[in-house]
Amino acid sequence: MRPIRLFFERFSEQYFPDCFKEYAELLTWDSYWHTILDSSNPPFWKWFVGGRLNACYNCVDRHLATRHNEAALIWVPEPEGETTQAITYQELYQQVNEFAAVLREFCGVETGDRVTFHLPMVPQLPVAMLACARLGAIHSEVFGGFSGAACGDRAADATSHVLVTMDGYYRNGQLVDHKAKADEAVATAHERGHEIDKVLVWRRHPGSYGSQSPMVEGRDFFVDELLAEQRGKVVDPVSMPAEAPLFLMYTSGTTARPKGCQHSTGGYLAYVAGTSKYYQDIHPDDTYWCCADIGWITGHSYIVYGPLALGTTSVMYEGAPAYPDPGRVWRIAERLGVSIFHTAPTTIRMLRKLGPDEPGKYHYRFKHMTTVGEPIEPEVWRWYYETAGKREAAIVDTWWQTENGGFLGSTLPALQPMKPGSCGPGVLGIYPVIYDEDGNTVEAGSGQAGNICIRNPWPGIFQTIWGQPERFVETYYQKYCRDPESKDWHDWPYFAGDGAVQAADGYFRILGRVDDVINVAGHRLGTKELESASLTVEEIAEAAAVPVVDELRGRAVEMYVSLKPGLKPSKDIEDRVAQAIDREIGKIARPKNVWVVTDMPKTRSGKIMRRVIASISNFGDVGDVSTLANPEIVDDIRHHIQSDK
Ligand code: WT7
Repeated sequence: MRPIRLFFERFSEQYFPDCFKEYAELLTWDSYWHTILDSSNPPFWKWFVGGRLNACYNCVDRHLATRHNEAALIWVPEPEGETTQAITYQELYQQVNEFAAVLREFCGVETGDRVTFHLPMVPQLPVAMLACARLGAIHSEVFGGFSGAACGDRAADATSHVLVTMDGYYRNGQLVDHKAKADEAVATAHERGHEIDKVLVWRRHPGSYGSQSPMVEGRDFFVDELLAEQRGKVVDPVSMPAEAPLFLMYTSGTTARPKGCQHSTGGYLAYVAGTSKYYQDIHPDDTYWCCADIGWITGHSYIVYGPLALGTTSVMYEGAPAYPDPGRVWRIAERLGVSIFHTAPTTIRMLRKLGPDEPGKYHYRFKHMTTVGEPIEPEVWRWYYETAGKREAAIVDTWWQTENGGFLGSTLPALQPMKPGSCGPGVLGIYPVIYDEDGNTVEAGSGQAGNICIRNPWPGIFQTIWGQPERFVETYYQKYCRDPESKDWHDWPYFAGDGAVQAADGYFRILGRVDDVINVAGHRLGTKELESASLTVEEIAEAAAVPVVDELRGRAVEMYVSLKPGLKPSKDIEDRVAQAIDREIGKIARPKNVWVVTDMPKTRSGKIMRRVIASISNFGDVGDVSTLANPEIVDDIRHHIQSDK
């Protein structure tokens, strides 16, 4: 075994960027790179330039020789009466090849084309992702809980002509009709001037169609019927340049238009394989369960690509964590012998609230647990450690973002001390720094908060925002770029959009977003998206979305709306605002409250002061309001919501 200290040292700054060879060597390359990092066109970094590989080959084919009969995926359906499915590497290979043949032969998908998925937590989702990767096509999964309109918007942005969906899936005991959303998606894309030509529909229960939405002749096709024509087909993996895009993952930002984060093939896969190995401590004989949704980056990196690149067994669960009771998660862990467990604070809070003693009733043993997505309160961390982890599992609190591909801040499990409420130092090869508003470094141990940035590029960083390269540069690099003409990466720190404090021991505590983004249960929602959705209700003149503290979800959304002149507030208007948000974004965005107010606190230039509204909403101190054009509105709103809350 390699001495640990030497290994750490190989990732110290003097060895950057060569240290990342360590990660790239976990993969199988068709041809090796000649340049580790090409930083000649900042901030469009290129990793492993000259290298070629196929991501699907790395996650499936190369494991066949030694693990063809071992489970790649174990899928647990939500209804407990349905049988758990183990899908071996050999079966995965078969399914991926056949689906790749459907995409290429039937749909005409070529290398570089985008394919949008709107799939729930079913094994067909990783199959579809890997089939695209096999062809060198770019997949773009839209979280299944998003509305059809949100899906159509993203498909239009990516100009995907093929949409892959499913008739239905189980959530909280209900068979959700999902195919209907595909019809909306096609209609929304059409309104944006883009045509989705083919909708491929998987059936949740083979042979029976679980949706009320009629199949449209010539547009909608059952995947099982198409697969029958491709049985046994083998599609050669297309050897892709390391820099070819592997997928898009849409996330929210400060404008209503979502951002399609474009991730690379070589850099991304190397980064998720490396971080899965060292931070998730995954070994091939582990049963690893990341209890998250593949519709988010966490699932892409740490349910599918990272674990499968390492050849381990990755568990997928279809449904709600507390269905039918708060013991469900621990029952699954016991039944499958899960050794590594990964989830988000919002799930931990919920399981702790609904079933604080449940873990003790089940005989599972975790060696390792992860938390990701939002800050975790120290008392919730302690329950996770003592009760869920039975004081045996090392916990890592991993801080990162959709844009980053993989972890940025974390401790190495069992090698670096854990500290509740703090994610730890930068991970191997990542050098974070906190800057104040003027770009001065905020020293560790100063107790002062600032903006956390990453001083260096890394292989997992996204390449650009699909179709919006200027927005990419502006959002992430402009703020702290020292010289826009500079070709030196040292002058281009990455601005993460999070506030943070660094303790004297070098550990970072993440405070949350500093921009117009609300993190609800670990899901990012843009205030502008919520406001635009509210404004689709005819009576609404102005809308402001603000975060309020929520016991389970960390943060929830509250909408403040004002009406066009002469209109009267009503319960009906409030309901229609909530429905509009459901329709445009999805149920996860549904506001906790909709408040119809007579006016919004505004600056003299007419800008709505969300900060002031948020303070009122959280019963906090609104601070100095003397600069407002209408300071009297603060008390009005306060009385209005106090009488109701
Ligand atoms: C935002 C990114 C990438 C995983 C899923 C979320 C917050 C993420 C932590 C953590 C405190 C965290 C940040 C970040 N966040 N992980 N361990 N501790 N905050 O991805 O939707 O892109 O959201 O989530 O505010 O900017 P995302």
